[in-house]
Amino acid sequence: MKILLKNCKLIEGLKDIIIEDDKIVDIKPCEWSKTFAMVDSFDQVIDIKNKLVIPGMIDAHVHVRDMEQNNKETWETASLAALTGGVTTIIDMPNTIPATTNLKGLNAKREAAKKAKLNYKFHLGATENNLQELEQILKSYSFDIAGIKIFLAGSSSNEVVADESKLKEIFKLAKKYDKVVLVHTELQSCLDKWQQKIAEKTIQNHDILRNRKCAIEGTKLVLELANKIGNKLYICHVSTREEIELIRKAKQKSTNIFCEITPHHLTLEESVLNSVGNFGKVNPPLRTKDDNNALLEAVIDSTIDCVGSDHAPHTIDEKIEDYSIAPSGFPGLETTLPILITEFIERKIPLSRLVELTSTKPAEIFEFKKRGKIEKEFYADLAVIDAEHAFPIIAAKFNSKAKYSPFDGMIGQAKVKFTFVNGNSKLPFGRGDVRYLPDRGVYYDE
Ligand code: DOR
Ligand code: ZN
Repeated sequence: MKILLKNCKLIEGLKDIIIEDDKIVDIKPCEWSKTFAMVDSFDQVIDIKNKLVIPGMIDAHVHVRDMEQNNKETWETASLAALTGGVTTIIDMPNTIPATTNLKGLNAKREAAKKAKLNYKFHLGATENNLQELEQILKSYSFDIAGIKIFLAGSSSNEVVADESKLKEIFKLAKKYDKVVLVHTELQSCLDKWQQKIAEKTIQNHDILRNRKCAIEGTKLVLELANKIGNKLYICHVSTREEIELIRKAKQKSTNIFCEITPHHLTLEESVLNSVGNFGKVNPPLRTKDDNNALLEAVIDSTIDCVGSDHAPHTIDEKIEDYSIAPSGFPGLETTLPILITEFIERKIPLSRLVELTSTKPAEIFEFKKRGKIEKEFYADLAVIDAEHAFPIIAAKFNSKAKYSPFDGMIGQAKVKFTFVNGNSKLPFGRGDVRYLPDRGVYYDE
C-alpha cells in the first residue's frame, strides 16, 4: 500500500509525505507531486490542504482500566479516544484490577490489550513485596514493558511503597535491567498528617488536604535516592514550582532524571474547581497560577521532558458523589494535544518544542524505535491538525466512556482531523461531522 499525503505543513515547512505500508519512505517538496503521472502510481492520494502534521503523540501516562473495570474504559474505547486526540502510542499504568504487579496480572492485561488499535507498552507496578515477581518478568518477558511505576501514596486502586529500604531495592532492580522508574511522588505519611489537620473536606480544599509539601517531600526523596543509586528516574505529573526547582538542579548533575507534566497542571489553577467540582478532582491536585507559570518556564527551558495526559477515566456516577467518595482523575486523551497546541500558539512557544514533549522525548525514554519523528524510515504515526480555527471542547462527544472534563466548554485552537497509525488512516471515530469521500477512499473530517 502506497499513500501520498500532499501539502502537509510540517514544522520544517510545506512537504509531501510518501508512506509505503507502515513506514514513511520519503519526504519531498510539494512541487514534486504536481505532475499527474507521479500521483497516479499511488494507491491513495490525500490532500492535507496545508494543515499541520506532527508525529502522533506517545503518551507515557494512560490508565486504560478494562478487565474488571471495563465499565470505566476498555482498550477499544481508549484506542478510539486516543486516535481522536492524535495519540498513536500509549503506555498503560499498572493500577488496574487485576494489577500489573505480577506475571498473571500482566498476562491478563496482555490479553485485554489485544483489542488495541494503536501502539502500546505497559508499566509494571512495584509494591513492597513483589520484587521477585518483577525480576521474573524483566528477565524473560520484558519486550512490552516500558518502566516500573511506584506510588508513594494511595490514589486509585494502587498499592503504596512507603518503606524506604524497599524503594532502594526497586531502584536497584530498575538499574540492573535498565528500566525507567516512574514515581507518583505525593508522600502518604505527609498526606495523612494534612488529613488530620484540615477538618473541612471539600473539593476547594483538595490542594490543601493533598498538600503541595507532600509532593515536594516525595520528589526530594526520590531525587536523592536516584542520585545515590544511579537508576533512570521519571517523575510523573510535576505540579509545583518547588519540585521544578529541585528537578532542575538534579538534572545538572545527572542525565538519568526525567520528568513529566500534564496539560491540566500546566493550564488550570485550583480556582477552576469552584465551577467544575469533582470533575477537576485529580492527584496531585491542581495548584496555583504561580505553579502554572513555573511549569511553563520549565517547558520553555527544557527542564520538562514529556507531557502525559494522565488519562484516568472514572464513571460519571462516581464523579458526582460527595468529594470524599468521588475518585480522582479524568479523561485526557482527547484533550491533550488540542489544549497544548492552543497554549503553545497563545504563548508563542515553537511547536517544535511541543513535538519534543509529546513524541520525540517519550520515544527515546521508553524505547519506541523509529517512532516520535517525521523522518524517512520512521513509522507513519501522524496527527493531522487544523490549528487555524477555534473549536469548542465538548466532553459529551468524547469517545472515552468518561464523558466529562474540567476543560469542557473551553475553546481550543486545534482539532485533530486525521490520525495515522503505522500508515493506516484512522478516523476520529464517532464524530457527527466525519464524512466518507468515496472518490478518495478515505475519511476526512471537514
Ligand atoms: O488522579 C489520579 N487518578 N491520580 C492518580 O495517580 C491515579 C489516577 C487513577 O488511576 O485514577
Ligand atoms: Zn496516573
